[in-house]
Amino acid sequence: MNILIMGGPGAGKGTMSARIVEAFDVNHISTGDIFRSEIGKQTELGMMAKSYMDQGLLVPDEVVNNMVKSYLENLEDKKNGFLLDGYPRTLDQAKAFDELSKGSDLEINKVILLNIELEELTNRITGRRLCKDCGEIYHMTSKRPAVEGVCDKCGGELYQRKDDTVESLQVRLDEYNRLTAPVMNYYADKGLVYTIEANQPMENVWADVKKALEK
Ligand code: AP5
Ligand code: ZN
Repeated sequence: MNILIMGGPGAGKGTMSARIVEAFDVNHISTGDIFRSEIGKQTELGMMAKSYMDQGLLVPDEVVNNMVKSYLENLEDKKNGFLLDGYPRTLDQAKAFDELSKGSDLEINKVILLNIELEELTNRITGRRLCKDCGEIYHMTSKRPAVEGVCDKCGGELYQRKDDTVESLQVRLDEYNRLTAPVMNYYADKGLVYTIEANQPMENVWADVKKALEK
């Protein structure tokens, strides 16, 4: 099964992706995570992406499309399929992915849409902390680590993403409304979308996501 997870910045895509990947044994393809890893390695791709990401702007379509294509081509183990997280994020990306996947085992079967009022996202984004070593996602109120600043899972140091500021979030929301919202309609027209209420405790969101994927 090939799944796409969508939702605004901070809707909980990364949090639910970790659970989906574990429960359904699919490959996790997060374009945001891939870019952050390239930035960490200071590659040319990473440095280019950083200039957009720090401001909250989207990286150009062609760059993202080529990156996802080569990522999928180089997967060693296809597992039970894949989970796309943060891609496609514009209509042009969705159309490019259709071209790439048409008639192949790369076609998207289900789209999970995490629905949440935009006001709630500020709290989620500004309270988010991440583990430097294993990527585990925390929150200062809804998912606190046992020891402040330290990952429960691996003992790694927690940090805040550079684009998790109120200013950057405003740009990300504008980009989302302008460029990503139309992608939802594109997949809704294909009858693939399952809308999940994301403004609930994590366990409830997960129960709904799991149910939709098991249908
Ligand atoms: P990306 O990394 O995809 O960021 P995003 O879409 O803004 O999403 P986030 O990672 O911020 O949030 P999330 O929905 O994963 O939420 P999380 O689970 O962490 O993209 C970053 C940038 O990369 C883009 O701005 C762009 O520049 C570039 N980029 C990436 N893909 C691109 C593409 N395709 N095209 C062009 N550019 C691209 O949760 C948030 C917080 O809330 C956490 O602290 C969590 O603990 C907490 N939380 C989660 N669920 C709940 C709950 N139910 N209750 C309470 N708290 C919760
Ligand atoms: Zn960790």
